[in-house]
Amino acid sequence: MPDAINQSDRIAKQLPPALAEFIKEAGRVAASQGQNLYLVGGVVRDLLLGRANLDLDLVVEGDAIELAQRLLQGKPGKITRHPHFKTARLQWDNMSIDLTTARSETYARSGALPTIGPGTMKDDLFRRDFTINAMAISLRPNRYGELIDLYGGRSDIEHGLIRILHEKSFIDDATRIWRAVRYEQRLDFLIERNTLRLLKRDVDMLDTISADRLRYELECVLHEEYPEKALRRAGELGVLQKLHPGLKGDEWLARKFEEARASAASYNLYLALLCYRFNANEIEDIVSRLRFPKPQAQVLRNVASVKSKLPALQEPELLSSAVYRLLHGYSHTAIIAASVASDSSIIRERLLLFLNTLRYVRPALTGDDLMEMGVPAGPRMKEILQRLHEARLDHKVRSKEEEADLVRRWLGSKK
Ligand code: CTP
Repeated sequence: MPDAINQSDRIAKQLPPALAEFIKEAGRVAASQGQNLYLVGGVVRDLLLGRANLDLDLVVEGDAIELAQRLLQGKPGKITRHPHFKTARLQWDNMSIDLTTARSETYARSGALPTIGPGTMKDDLFRRDFTINAMAISLRPNRYGELIDLYGGRSDIEHGLIRILHEKSFIDDATRIWRAVRYEQRLDFLIERNTLRLLKRDVDMLDTISADRLRYELECVLHEEYPEKALRRAGELGVLQKLHPGLKGDEWLARKFEEARASAASYNLYLALLCYRFNANEIEDIVSRLRFPKPQAQVLRNVASVKSKLPALQEPELLSSAVYRLLHGYSHTAIIAASVASDSSIIRERLLLFLNTLRYVRPALTGDDLMEMGVPAGPRMKEILQRLHEARLDHKVRSKEEEADLVRRWLGSKK
């Protein structure tokens, strides 16, 4: 990389002018208080890589909350303070910046969150996961743009390597195992040899991580542009199986994720496909292992239910009303997942017929209309509405008038 040290041109080129101006000004304000301010972490990595990243993290050797207040003075923004962590989030227009007090971290035991203490920028960089994420750029006016690279992050970026900073890194925080896989696959890098050896040695440390933190790592993977790449690698390394021994990051999954992207990929859809080959018991197992919140738990349970309906959906000559009866009540995502996962064209066709058309079909006559026609409220009305709905679904009636004729016929034949 020719522009070895000073990154001010990259900042000017890659960040939106308002953000670039803001951080420059922030550096000036901090300096006027005798404090050093730095751009750190992912944004520095991405500046060097020429990748877009608007998630800015600033670290100050001083009080982050006080500085945040000063920076927003007279501006129409919002500050969210976290006094315990000495951090503040600044938001204005559509921009957001995290401001943290430089800190050191120690780990009382594997899997626990770290104990935080005051620290210098150097301590703050040393507490980080990988060399490529452990660089900073000074925002101090007389050193603006200067790259601080204490662990060889820039060289690892050049060589495409994910490298931890010390031998105990994965023991301190095993979520870094997932992070290593994620960055490696996102950036088309390689996990460096010794780091890979330690990752394999420490893979069981993932058992010390809470369900919520593991679920968060899975969420991050599923939010990647090509999640199947990280899942495949995690499968090869035995990392995926730590979430659930039955999960597979294989060819089938890669193909289905790709297909999902062609329609409407989302976190829930990827999750549904990842667990698609599970039976109902395995679904319950992963829901409780990872403590999925209700919406995801429901999608996963619905996947198992929809799957159980697929043989019936394959019957020839199935009426639309029968398709409706089989599928209504299940989440949209679970049905899409089944349509992406299924290799039968008739099943796909019927699932999509339900999603695109049948689920919107309603009779034109309402309960009030039926009452005017002499149908009493109660079970009889319910039954008539249901039969009308089915007649509509099966194109036996096509207008309000035809529905009314049909109801009159039913009423007549009952009398
Ligand atoms: N970090 C760390 N160890 C972790 C989590 C985070 O060292 N377990 C540090 C890294 O320096 C990282 C920074 O905190 O760069 C911010 O974390 P995060 O927002 O998760 O990552 P980003 O680098 O911003 O990456 P991404 O592009 O995935 O958001």
